[in-house]
Amino acid sequence: MDRIRCACLASRWPEIRAWLTRGSYSRGRAEEGQDGEAGRRECILRWEGHSLPGRNRKAYSSSVEINEKTQKFIDERGAWTAMAIKLADGTYTRRPAVDYRLKRLVQCAEDLVKKPLKDCRVLDLACLEGHYAIEFALRGAEAVGIEARDVNLEKCEYAREMLTLDRVRFVKDDVRSLSRAKYGLFDIVICSGILYHLPAHDAVEFIRQLAETCSGVLLLDTYVSLYGRERSIVGRRELRGHFYFEHNNSDDTRTRSERLWASIDNVTSFWVTQASLLNLLSEAGFTSVLEVLTPPTPGFPKDRKTYAAVRGTPARIHSSDLTDAIGDIHVAEGESSLMDGSQRQKSVLFRFAKRVLPPSVKTIIKPALRAIRVLPPDQTPEFMRKK
Ligand SMILES: C[S@@+](CC[C@H](N)C(=O)[O-])C[C@H]1O[C@@H](n2cnc3c(N)ncnc32)[C@H](O)[C@@H]1O
Repeated sequence: MDRIRCACLASRWPEIRAWLTRGSYSRGRAEEGQDGEAGRRECILRWEGHSLPGRNRKAYSSSVEINEKTQKFIDERGAWTAMAIKLADGTYTRRPAVDYRLKRLVQCAEDLVKKPLKDCRVLDLACLEGHYAIEFALRGAEAVGIEARDVNLEKCEYAREMLTLDRVRFVKDDVRSLSRAKYGLFDIVICSGILYHLPAHDAVEFIRQLAETCSGVLLLDTYVSLYGRERSIVGRRELRGHFYFEHNNSDDTRTRSERLWASIDNVTSFWVTQASLLNLLSEAGFTSVLEVLTPPTPGFPKDRKTYAAVRGTPARIHSSDLTDAIGDIHVAEGESSLMDGSQRQKSVLFRFAKRVLPPSVKTIIKPALRAIRVLPPDQTPEFMRKK
């Protein structure tokens, strides 16, 4: 059984996952030229046509969806690892597969940007094989795709030529050198699958540059750290999250560059928690951040999120001076444990006592139980409390 199938099983059965993560995956590495845990998971998400990187030649040669020219390109330059792009003659760059993220990004952009796509500039960061930028260009937008790896860029260019698109250009660059001076302003910035490949100090500056280059909406698709068990200090800021291994220290440049979905050079990256991310986004100038839930992405892990961050103007509150004065609100780490009392699971003993004890006894013992935290704090509004 190959590793990818192991990974699929692992995503279903926690025991197998635990067993696997004691092995080579524990350091965030996966085989078949992919990056670590994230690559493995993205493999799983994208593994719909059984055409896995590195051994899809057979799949292609038996597939009618690949034309001869594309097959020749694949034989010489390697296969597309993820993005199945429909070319002008109806053939594909790889076996066609559903891309839920593409659908989500395009729908969000159409819904949230206030002008027609043909009047929009779209930036696709770390664009891999260029599908998202190409889709926006096909819809009339002026698109720019930035990607660091030559072999990925060659595939972007191939698809662009096969579609004779002149509204998209692909640039070889490191997303960490993004700036408005270099690329101008964009109505839509797509930052998918790259933030979690950066170390914390780069991520902080990168988010600042995202805000600098975005005049409308940032569509940010990323893994977030669920437990924030580690810290990274950047300037005077403390970020919570966890470190993630992209490469081994001993890996040479070539080995690093061959991991087509991984960071280009940094050995570790830092996955921030949602709270740290939200604070960075609002500090950078995004005035509201929405979590995108539909269109859905069936089968995606719960730590993979899509956010739409809007570059707006801070709203003044005219009807409440106190509310107006609060300024930026810091998002606290960890989920609030507060919830309505009706949601709490009550023990049999509790339910029995509640039923049989007279109200006068309950009034006496409740404050004591609250003091020792057996009961949650009283949330009854002031006006409803018995005088
Ligand atoms: C996991 S893939 C994500 C691709 C695509 N954006 C998506 O959402 O499916 C990460 C991509 O980022 C590229 N990449 C990694 N580090 C980069 C950097 N510092 N600058 C530009 N591209 C980078 C990789 O070559 C790869 O194409």
